[in-house]
Amino acid sequence: MKDIVCRPYIFNDRSACLAIFDSNVPTFFAPEERADFCEFLGGINAEDRPYLVLTRQGSVIACGGLIAMTETRQAVLAWGMVERALHGQGLGTRLTRARLALARTIPNIAVLRLATSQHTRGFYEDFGFIVSKVTPDGFASGLDRWDMTLRLT
Ligand SMILES: CC(C)(COP(=O)(O)OP(=O)(O)OC[C@H]1O[C@@H](n2cnc3c(N)ncnc32)[C@H](O)[C@@H]1OP(=O)(O)O)[C@@H](O)C(=O)NCCC(=O)NCCS
Repeated sequence: MKDIVCRPYIFNDRSACLAIFDSNVPTFFAPEERADFCEFLGGINAEDRPYLVLTRQGSVIACGGLIAMTETRQAVLAWGMVERALHGQGLGTRLTRARLALARTIPNIAVLRLATSQHTRGFYEDFGFIVSKVTPDGFASGLDRWDMTLRLT
């Protein structure tokens, strides 16, 4: 983990992030979600839509961010993912800790929300997220949607 760098997303990371998305299709993401991810990447900004990448030796290997909605004192964890071949090596934990730390730097955020699938809800439960709603096939056929929340203290 010492060789992993966490830094803000820059425009030149776009194709690497899309490649990470593609590596997680179809188990974790449905192909039809790609257009939404492209649109999201186009709207990243430092204020209310910060996005982070993890790099190793200059290569982007994980990415994930937040959408802050200070008027409702909430933020949404958005588009978090690790290169498929590198799952299970602690990178997701490193990325999630960085996103939680980032959320805590934004004033007036009391609750974090996220929507994930049946495949990764256990990962987020380990961080204290609690399920609020389960929608079978909510993302795509066979890919359920688990809405989860975490109260920041
Ligand atoms: C969720 C994700 C980020 C986890 O990343 P990762 O690098 O594999 O996770 P880590 O290696 O840090 O795992 C940390 C712990 O969580 C556990 N874990 C990992 N994925 C898990 C899962 N899907 N369900 C339950 N536990 C999981 C690991 O076993 C590990 O536990 P341990 O420390 O006791 O061994 C990764 O599976 C991913 O990128 N998925 C595709 C994208 C996705 O579905 N994102 C959802 C939000 S949009």
